Order: sequence, then C-alpha cells, then structure tokens
Amino acid sequence: MYLSKSDIEQTERIKRLNIINAVTGIKPANLIGTRSEDGEANVAIFSSVVHLGSDPALLGFVLRPQHEKPRDTYINIKSSGAYTINHVPISLIENAHFTSAKFPKKISEFERCGFTEEYLFDFHAPFVKESYLKIGLELVEEIPISSNRTIMMIGQIVHLEFPDEVMGEHGHLDLEKLETAGISGVDSYYQLRKKDQFPYAHVKDVPDFK
Ligand SMILES: Cc1cc2nc3c(=O)[nH]c(=O)nc-3n(C[C@H](O)[C@H](O)[C@H](O)COP(=O)(O)O)c2cc1C
Repeated sequence: MYLSKSDIEQTERIKRLNIINAVTGIKPANLIGTRSEDGEANVAIFSSVVHLGSDPALLGFVLRPQHEKPRDTYINIKSSGAYTINHVPISLIENAHFTSAKFPKKISEFERCGFTEEYLFDFHAPFVKESYLKIGLELVEEIPISSNRTIMMIGQIVHLEFPDEVMGEHGHLDLEKLETAGISGVDSYYQLRKKDQFPYAHVKDVPDFK
C-alpha cells in the first residue's frame, strides 16, 4: 500500500483517522483525572501523553480542538491547574475505552465505567485507584498548535506513585510488570511484553551487525 498526500486527503474521514492514528506505532494508554470547581470528578482516556524532559519532570499531552465546545478535561485543568495521569491496566481496557463517551457533565465517568476516585497527597485532582502507576501534575504551559487547533498541555510531575517491585536498580520501570496497556488508533489495545534492555549506546560499544 502506498498513500500520497492527496490519497490521504481523499480517504474517507474515519478510515483516514484510523490510519493516521496508527502510524506512530504503539501509544501509551492513560486515564486523565480532573475535578471541576464544583468538586465533580472527571476521567477520560488519552493516548497522546508524551515525555518532554526529566529535569524538570515534564509531560505533555495533546487535546483535540476546544474552541467549539470545551470539554471537561480542558475546563477542569484550566480552572484548577491540576490533573492526574494514570496508566490503564490491561485488565480494564474496555472500561477505560468507554470513558471516551461524551457523558453529560453530571455523570461521573468514574462511576459509570467502573473506576474508583482516589484522593492522595492532598492533591486536588482524583487519581484512578485501579491504576498501578499514578502521576499528579501541575499545569505549566499550554501551547496552541495553530496548524489544526489542537492544544499541547504541559504539566510538571508533582506526585508519582508505583509499586516498589517494578523499579530496577537504575530506575528502569518494567511496564510489563505494571500491566500497562498500549494503544493503536483510537480503538485497538495491546498487551506489552518486555523483550530486552541495552546499555547506553556509546559508539565504541556498538556491536558488529554485519
Ligand atoms: C483510545 C483513545 C485515545 C484518545 N486519545 C485522546 C487524546 O490523546 N486527546 C484527546 O483530546 N482526546 C482523546 N481521546 C478522546 C477523549 O477520550 C474524549 O474526547 C473524552 O470525551 C474527553 O473527555 P472529557 O470530555 O471528559 O474531557 C481518545 C479516545 C480514545 C478512545
């Protein structure tokens, strides 16, 4: 299969969305938890979380355009400056998937989709109790992406929790042990298996691949 720019542009919308959403490879499956000014908890699945740097510890995620109807995740992050990112455990991918439904504001996706709100470390935003890796973030920057009106939300990690046994000596986290799911497109979920681990790639240490 070969697709040029014009082939892509002429592809039917849903088919194009599925293709282009898959071409980056496996994306992380995360639930983002927020709380409104009225105290209502909100949670939804996001696949666009990306590591931006470790010092300071910054993560970004991309939000769909919000100019027509801002969604709860965006509204709550803007009003509180706080949100949580929680890995989706492989046993709960179906529950996590359906948090993406456009529920009315009054309905809690936590309750409807079988997740439990958990308030830890005096943090404003809810963590997802069922998740094995939980991150609390403070919003530090919002970057509008003018080419398609999406928004990159950048947050600094202020809380991080995971089971002791998943961390190796030098801080490697074993995502297989964490039972974290992966995503392709917006509807396909993968189980992760750790294959190998290599040392820092010094030129002098590159194996002879010939
Ligand atoms: C697998 C999957 C991945 C998703 N990733 C994103 C994403 O990265 N960014 C985004 O804006 N919406 C994403 N969505 C859509 C949101 O989950 C959906 O818009 C949700 O309703 C947002 O929650 P809110 O309305 O409570 O803010 C994704 C949906 C699915 C099913």
